[in-house]
Amino acid sequence: MVEQILSEFLLSKEDLEEVMRRMRREMERGLRVETHNEASIKMLPTYVRSTPEGSEVGDFLALDLGGTNFRVMLVKVGEDEERGWKVETKHHMYSIPEDTMTGTAEMLFDYIAGCISDFLDKHNLKHKKLPLGFTFSFPVRHEDLDKGILLNWTKGFKASGAEGNNVVGLLRDAIKRRGDFEMDVVAMVNDTVATMISCYYEDHSCEVGMIVGTGCNACYMEEMRKVELVEGEEGRMCVNTEWGAFGDNGELEDFRLEYDRVIDETSLNPGHQRACLYGNLELLCGLQVTRVVFLYEKLIGGKYMGELVRLVLLKLVNENLLFNGDASDLLKTRGAFETRFVSQIESDTGDRKQIYNILSTLGILPSEQDCDIVRLVCKSVSTRAAHMCGAGLAGVINLMRERRCQEQLKITVGVDGSVYKLHPQKQRWSFKERFHKLVWEMNPDCEITFIQSEEGSGRGAALISAVACKMAACML
Ligand code: BG6
Ligand code: GLC
Repeated sequence: MVEQILSEFLLSKEDLEEVMRRMRREMERGLRVETHNEASIKMLPTYVRSTPEGSEVGDFLALDLGGTNFRVMLVKVGEDEERGWKVETKHHMYSIPEDTMTGTAEMLFDYIAGCISDFLDKHNLKHKKLPLGFTFSFPVRHEDLDKGILLNWTKGFKASGAEGNNVVGLLRDAIKRRGDFEMDVVAMVNDTVATMISCYYEDHSCEVGMIVGTGCNACYMEEMRKVELVEGEEGRMCVNTEWGAFGDNGELEDFRLEYDRVIDETSLNPGHQRACLYGNLELLCGLQVTRVVFLYEKLIGGKYMGELVRLVLLKLVNENLLFNGDASDLLKTRGAFETRFVSQIESDTGDRKQIYNILSTLGILPSEQDCDIVRLVCKSVSTRAAHMCGAGLAGVINLMRERRCQEQLKITVGVDGSVYKLHPQKQRWSFKERFHKLVWEMNPDCEITFIQSEEGSGRGAALISAVACKMAACML
């Protein structure tokens, strides 16, 4: 009976091919002017263009907001005889209090400016007006590299007064309000884009960036002639797909389970609030913003994975198939089952010690069979996530191959994010292994390499800023 309940998480080859087809269709619709507004995948132009021609050297400040941690970094971009460039970083991590994440935009950006000020003090840099690259990991409609409107918050952020506004403007205003340092904000980029660029400098075939962490998203280099929202035909531009919103037009309805519906309803951006959010945004900035639910992301992202497992465990308890039909108060509490537990449970070496310990912290004394069932639940949820995510990436690569009219596309994907990096490494069936295997299987005609990015967001944002500074200097 347990296996029967969990079999709902299995996706057949045909299912995954269907997901890939639907995603491709939405991506094409997102790129085209006439269908862009209705498309669930927004395909946002980033103004990061192909093959940067050299960059400025010097010190850059980078901010990284939107993942598990908020980071301020000092990135030194220098010349290197062999590779032409090198980067060195110093960083400091700050945690953002929950009431700041969900308060007002002014509170959030004042807090960020406060962290920058603290970092500059620590490194004795207050007197310098450094160029700043801002990795801002949310959907932004760019008007230029340093100007873009936040379309909607995701992943537990909800500071009021930010949606519909220019994010760089909010940051500049907060820095001005403090008045104790100056900064030249030259670029704002998504984390997928920063990840791709940082890996591009290692491997020039890297034209896709992907994050599987708290949220899930991908970007890739698209032919300019296909990016209809921006004028120009020459070269390529990086497109931030914002594929997390896939499904918001109903494309995932035949794959979503009862647990997914609860996750959505109890999230900060539930489906039923969609209508009123559109109204506010249209009033705020005259833009037609139509998608804010992020159903695909809710099947994959680390923000939701632990909670999904908890809901399945409760279902099994209710069916009297687990823990003698008795759930502890903690297990009944929303958010009590953390996503890191999923990784830890799946890395259990077989003696069930790890599983036993985690369940005891949740007030449960499990039998050996209970431990095995819990491990099976984790595996079912994380495998579905890996496969759903793999189908999405296969769709992106398939699109790129067709665009480039190549029989055999050689492509590198730069990846970051806690789910990708931390899901059990030593197991044969880690998230990463299941995901890679599926992407390779679904794109048999492509040579696909994955690179794991290390501190990619900071380095990427700084490198994009360094190129922007060089271009600005050339234009003077
Ligand atoms: C980090 C990047 O390593 O990964 C961030 O620096 C990114 O920019 C993050 O947002 C995503 O992973 P997580 O798990 O922290 O959401
Ligand atoms: C969410 C954000 C997206 C980001 C992703 C990974 O999906 O909307 O911009 O790239 O999370 O952090």
